[in-house]
Amino acid sequence: MSRFWSPVVHQLTPYIAGEQPKLHNLIKLNTNENPYGPSPLTLQAIAAATTDSLRLYPDPTAQQLLMTIAESFGLDQSNVFVGNGSDEVLAHTFQALLKHDAPLLFPDITYSFYPAYCRLYGIDFRAIALDETMSVCVSDYRKNCGAIILPNPNAPTGIALPLSEIENLLKDHPDQVVVIDEAYVDFGAASAVPLVKHYPNLLVIQTLSKSRGLAGLRVGFAVGDSSLIEALNRVKDSFNSYPLDQLAIVGAIAAWKDRVWFEDSRNKIIATRARLASSLDKLNFEVLPSSANFLFVHHPACSAKEIFGQLREKSILVRHLPGDRTNDYLRITIGTDAECEKLVVALQDILG
Ligand SMILES: Cc1ncc(COP(=O)(O)O)c(C=O)c1O
Repeated sequence: MSRFWSPVVHQLTPYIAGEQPKLHNLIKLNTNENPYGPSPLTLQAIAAATTDSLRLYPDPTAQQLLMTIAESFGLDQSNVFVGNGSDEVLAHTFQALLKHDAPLLFPDITYSFYPAYCRLYGIDFRAIALDETMSVCVSDYRKNCGAIILPNPNAPTGIALPLSEIENLLKDHPDQVVVIDEAYVDFGAASAVPLVKHYPNLLVIQTLSKSRGLAGLRVGFAVGDSSLIEALNRVKDSFNSYPLDQLAIVGAIAAWKDRVWFEDSRNKIIATRARLASSLDKLNFEVLPSSANFLFVHHPACSAKEIFGQLREKSILVRHLPGDRTNDYLRITIGTDAECEKLVVALQDILG
């Protein structure tokens, strides 16, 4: 606290990022990173761009990247916005499109950055409870609201909605912006991007952090009607004209084009997820059905906090999210098969 702070800063409860400890031999299953990392073609492209041209500012519009993404979806570059990780794209979205007189709606268990952005930008919001299966029930959103945002698959549950339900949500709210945060979509959910042509109120946000293994490069993007994208550009150009540096732009283009690496890495993660879910099931965990690169699990006989602490002592880091409805759960990122096997052995030991 300081008397020099702007009033808004006193009101903030910032998002708490997962730990990035520098411990040796750590099995890191806490921040949903991709164990296979970026494709070699991506690394080559970044290395080739590491030249004297770094003295110049990057293209403020990242036009080549916009075109690459737009073409892959059969859209125009005016339908795409890129930012410094999808967190920045989300931040601009909250400010540009989600602040209205009526409250913003999102699930009560969801990405915990959403309420943090609301506090930062002074956005009134209502959290809509997940149903008893921990799923989003779109009919619960049929109420007065200024806009809606939800991740699909949801985080940290991993549970996905079918596209038909997203479409129902869009039809229920033709006069509100509906944002679908698809950070984890490539691990098993259907993307709403094809709906963009039909619904001018839909904004879809994706990231290269998860399925492209590029959390460290910080690239995310939004796809939507050009009027929504214009609003994002207005905020971006009032904040930082160069959110993507030159290396991020070339790296993201190479990653987006390398379909072979992408398919291979996500298929491995999906296969490992099925194996880990079945091993955890045998250890008596309740495992929510995940379409993401993590599992959200609960053990009836041992508290999540206890398991988290004991795993940490064995140099295995998972995520425990305190909160009324998440306290009993652990979120476990899908690592390599070897990492997940070590996790299972450690859990067998802990649970006796
Ligand atoms: C639901 C969701 N959306 C967005 C993000 C942000 O990802 P990034 O800023 O790395 O693109 C995350 C990161 O964990 C997430 O879980």
